[in-house]
Amino acid sequence: MDYAIRDIRLADKGRERVDWAFQHMQVLKILRDRYEKNKPFKGLRIGCCLHITTETANLMVNIKKAGAQVYLCASNPLSTQDDVAAYLVKKEKISVFGKHGDSRKSYYENIKNVMKRKPHLIVDDGCDLISSFHRDDSLAGNIIGATEETTTGVIRLRSLAKNGLLKFPVIAVNDANTKHFFDNKYGTGQSTIDGILRSTNILVAGMTAVVSGYGWCGRGIAARFRGMGANVIITEVDSLRALEAVMDGYRVMPVSEAAETGDVFITSTGNTSVLTINEMKKMKSGAILGNAGHFNVEIDLAGLRSASRKRKVRECLDEYTFRNGKKIYVLGEGRLVNLACAEGHPSSVMDMSFANQFLALKHLKENRDMTPEVYRVPEDIDKKIAELKLAGMGIRIDKLTAEQKKYVNSWDMGT
Ligand code: NAI
Repeated sequence: MDYAIRDIRLADKGRERVDWAFQHMQVLKILRDRYEKNKPFKGLRIGCCLHITTETANLMVNIKKAGAQVYLCASNPLSTQDDVAAYLVKKEKISVFGKHGDSRKSYYENIKNVMKRKPHLIVDDGCDLISSFHRDDSLAGNIIGATEETTTGVIRLRSLAKNGLLKFPVIAVNDANTKHFFDNKYGTGQSTIDGILRSTNILVAGMTAVVSGYGWCGRGIAARFRGMGANVIITEVDSLRALEAVMDGYRVMPVSEAAETGDVFITSTGNTSVLTINEMKKMKSGAILGNAGHFNVEIDLAGLRSASRKRKVRECLDEYTFRNGKKIYVLGEGRLVNLACAEGHPSSVMDMSFANQFLALKHLKENRDMTPEVYRVPEDIDKKIAELKLAGMGIRIDKLTAEQKKYVNSWDMGT
């Protein structure tokens, strides 16, 4: 069995943390129990490119117990939890390629290692594995289809499909309601604050927090900042989302204006160059910058580096000093702050995202006639996951009565 991890001796520590996460993943547990017996993935190789976290480990175990051979590489060089990688290799005999702090070169070598196993199904987060198969399709012959975890990955896939280049069907797990309503909003919201606090221990109450992008992630981050007493400013480029932010009670203004007043800046747009050196020049000394979007392109680190001197001041926090003495701080090298500086989303929310991944893989395997397009997660799967999650939480809800069913399906019942 091949692997490339930091230290196999960390396996016991990893196991404890993976077990703890599993206690909060009721839906994955139901699916594990159900499919361990009839092994729907028997004979299949499944290649995954995901953040190597405790929650991912539980998804990997589910897929393996359902009969597949599993290969996992990291979807970000700073999100890998080395003890989890060791646990998967040593205790679960799963091939893992990823070390915390991998270089750009080893990051792509890890992806290549998964490609070489010629997977039948792919699970991706950010589309780096899928796009690698599109750049070099010599190893793509067996692929039945793929699933994609995040907004940025889905955007890249839609672009491939629009240009007629997509080679196999992909299910956009991110677009399931039981994914982005919860993972992007509550997961990113809470864990972004967690990442900021672990790296800085600042007091949120009374500070001015600027959140760029009021999409699913931005809404969650803004709400959690406000809940802890921050004054929150939103910057947006979409008029509808900006209006929503205004009516949710936030101040909305261009980023160039917000730059002058913010104490902490978090980007969550999935776009590039959101905080450029021009904004940084306007910021107060001591401003803290972080990014929650998928790629490390939202903060212009190259511009900042060329205008200042850098030194590491705490774990996950770099100080940049300008020639005039002004200081700017950057969290986690501009990579996903919640994963680089904390542990990522709480397992309870990843439970739903990964239940979607598991059932979407099963759907691809059972529907081999799907053409190369980007698909939504089937509605019945999405609904089932919501039902299972509520049941796992011990929450019961009402059912429509016969009278109510008739009423909501009729057109002729007025006053
Ligand atoms: P979304 O599409 O719902 O929201 C993005 C928002 O950013 C949109 O409202 C858009 O108008 C706005 N925007 C785009 N360019 C902008 C600019 N220059 N200035 C201000 N606003 C701008 O996307 P979602 O789901 O919120 O995802 C955002 C990013 O976060 C993506 O890269 C996604 O992959 C990533 N993500 C990160 C997670 C994490 O764990 N940190 C979890 C889930 C998603």
